[in-house]
Amino acid sequence: MKTLLTTSALALLALAGTAQAAGKLTLYCSPQEEWCQLMVTEFTKATGIEVAMTRKSSGETYAQILAEKDNPKGDVWWGGTGDPHLQAAEEGLTEEYASPLMDELHDWAKNQHDAAGGRTVGIYAGALGFGYNTELLAEKGLTEPSCWEDLVKEDYRGEVQMANPNSSGTAYTTLATVVQVMGEDAAFDWLRALHQNINQYTKSGSAPIKAAARGETTIGIVFQHDAVTQRVGGFPIKPMSPCEGTGYEIGSMSIIKDARNMEEAKQFYDFALRADIQAMAGSVGAYQVPSNMGAAPPPEAPKLEDIKLIDYDFKKYGSSDERTRLLSKWDKEVNAQ
Ligand code: F6P
Repeated sequence: MKTLLTTSALALLALAGTAQAAGKLTLYCSPQEEWCQLMVTEFTKATGIEVAMTRKSSGETYAQILAEKDNPKGDVWWGGTGDPHLQAAEEGLTEEYASPLMDELHDWAKNQHDAAGGRTVGIYAGALGFGYNTELLAEKGLTEPSCWEDLVKEDYRGEVQMANPNSSGTAYTTLATVVQVMGEDAAFDWLRALHQNINQYTKSGSAPIKAAARGETTIGIVFQHDAVTQRVGGFPIKPMSPCEGTGYEIGSMSIIKDARNMEEAKQFYDFALRADIQAMAGSVGAYQVPSNMGAAPPPEAPKLEDIKLIDYDFKKYGSSDERTRLLSKWDKEVNAQ
């Protein structure tokens, strides 16, 4: 009996030791909540590491990491548009790391790593666009919008929703895209005209298309994959690719500078680049294109090769000066109107 007790006590102690050794991780997550949850569950299942996760939009997460820079609370920032990740890299808020899985990635994901001096890496890509509720459009007798120019027509007064580019990476991508498509002066004229049609600037980038699915707005300016998610979910949403051409995101991942759980952060980073892990995204309705060449894009994912993509200048629009300048110009000249 004595030997038995001692053996079980030892086993318990060993178990407790393993749990402790497995450690913990604080994850800042910027893609869709369902995908964030899936990553947490799968990572804990694979490693035993406990994860405390918060989902916040890309611009909000960047601002939080900046605010916490002298006392970092997060370990990894997973997902969200690449521009604020590049800004964080330039400002030294994130850590240099080269995963052993780098060779498995598409060039666009590796280029993101190079552009950031190794402080961020591409994990997925997705094209910007908009989507509309086909039933509401028909009920209101409106014509189908197919170009950026269409969205500023008087017919769509109060019918368009987009996010605020300060909090949302989707909306910042929209701002940087129209500047690249139209030229800055024309783009700001367009944004001021669009402001007349906007019923709400939301915090999160995908909120406008969720609102369109619920019939609360007719049109939402979003990433096309977020419109597809609503359509696959059974809502009367049609994703559109603007006729003039459109920008895209390289969804990124960064380790936070001086992360408290640096070893666990690197384990998560390597885990998130694995082909089998990236291939799970479609199961939770995340239809971005994965960065690992071994992970097939979900069949529902918009095909980037069929979309008229602009040569988005990530270096320029992800730079601290340019992002700060464009956002404050948008605040003053558009939102304050
Ligand atoms: O909903 C998913 C997604 O569109 C990602 O592809 C993108 O990186 C992220 O949301 C951007 O979210 P937000 O605009 O809220 O920063």
